[in-house]
Amino acid sequence: PESLVSDRFNELSAHERAVRMVENNIRHAGAVLLGPVPEDAGLNNAVGMRPSQIINAVEESGLRGCGGAGFTTGRKWRFAASEKLDRHFVICNADEGEPGTFKDRVLLTERPHLLVEGMTIAARAVGAREGILYLRGEYVYLRELLEGVLEERRRRGLLGKDILGVKGFEFDIRLQLGAGAYICGEEGALISSCEGLPGEPKTRPPFPVSRGYLGYPTVVNNVETFCHAARILDQGAKWFHAMGTEGSHGTKLFSVCGDCLNPGIYELPYGHSVWELLEMVGGTDAAAVQVGGPSGTMIGRDSFHRKLTFDDLATGGAIIIFNGQRNILEIVEYYMSFFVHESCGYCTPCRVGNVFLQKAIQKFQKGLANPEDIDYLKDLSGTIIETSRCGLGMTSPNPILSTLKNFPLVYSAVSKPSKDGIRDTFDIQSA
Ligand code: NAI
Ligand code: SF4
Repeated sequence: PESLVSDRFNELSAHERAVRMVENNIRHAGAVLLGPVPEDAGLNNAVGMRPSQIINAVEESGLRGCGGAGFTTGRKWRFAASEKLDRHFVICNADEGEPGTFKDRVLLTERPHLLVEGMTIAARAVGAREGILYLRGEYVYLRELLEGVLEERRRRGLLGKDILGVKGFEFDIRLQLGAGAYICGEEGALISSCEGLPGEPKTRPPFPVSRGYLGYPTVVNNVETFCHAARILDQGAKWFHAMGTEGSHGTKLFSVCGDCLNPGIYELPYGHSVWELLEMVGGTDAAAVQVGGPSGTMIGRDSFHRKLTFDDLATGGAIIIFNGQRNILEIVEYYMSFFVHESCGYCTPCRVGNVFLQKAIQKFQKGLANPEDIDYLKDLSGTIIETSRCGLGMTSPNPILSTLKNFPLVYSAVSKPSKDGIRDTFDIQSA
């Protein structure tokens, strides 16, 4: 592993140092973002291209959004570019809040120029003059570093007017800090927050590409997506397209944590199986793996052959490993408490339904649940998913649904009342 410890390490607090020491477990398997990166090579190429050529290159590369949803990046840029309004915006979603996801923090710390380069390329592609870097409130310690990067790039003619000497190519970025709300990572809530409004999602459509920040066409992409775009403009669409699998091209950063020997950030081409990743990180004792954080899927050993791709197991990056001593119901209850806490409260199914789901799980934990409670969990989950306004409510029942599917014994074992009416919860092994 190549250490990414820099001079700045000594200036960090004890907590930040501990976090960084975990992050130093970085592997480079065909590293595109974590390996050596030439300075602004992509931007230098982009200024010699027409906006449509840039979009074609990003589209042909097969790049898909790295925040989790995987929407085709080139298509998103094309939609925004086709809108004829006189202002366009580029926003970087650096509000990385999914529990278990910490890969963007490494890019923000170690590859901030690459990120701003990617945003500048996007601006050229869609005709934006203004950009916003929306930084997670908890990452406030990166503010000075990032402001410094923006200032340096203004000085070097890489931001501001006539970028790289190209007449009329103007783009600048302001940094905006979140205030600790998970929901502000949802793009509509993020845009509301940038507008000075409460961080509540907006009803879609219209999507931000047509009516986003202040009602203007807006490209919102994840940190990793912008970094990849810069590398694609440097190395070419074919180079990127050749990595990964049929539907998932290029590489992906995974933030690996939990019960393994080497937690940290790993960059791998798409297509590795969960088992291969567990071997790399010293986690082959795993009994369960949460792929994609609480809004993702929990799988058991019989599914470790599955591939980390958009078509099989999609993830924004979180891989949380649990050994056989962990209590699945306790994990699910914790995830539900997270969603209850983070719901913005706008829609009733999400605001109230998630509380009911959490209470039902607690009933299972106490051994007081009946087999009918399993149907209740499924029905209520379905209602919440179908009637919620945004991604939070549409995914909040996932911890329950995925464990009901993949660990059914955990539920059935505790849904039969014992003689005294109260049972201890079952751990993975005993279930
Ligand atoms: P989505 O699939 O609704 O949208 C994804 C992107 O594509 C958005 O930018 C959206 O504007 C755009 N889009 C979708 N359909 C479009 C259309 N017809 N026209 C134009 N643009 C379109 O997913 P969403 O709700 O934005 O994000 C959910 C994902 O976020 C989940 O997969 C989850 O894993 C991930 N997530 C990531 C977190 C993190 O910290 N990285 C935190 C929480 C969730
Ligand atoms: Fe808010 Fe939840 Fe509704 Fe999303 S689904 S708008 S988080 S209440």
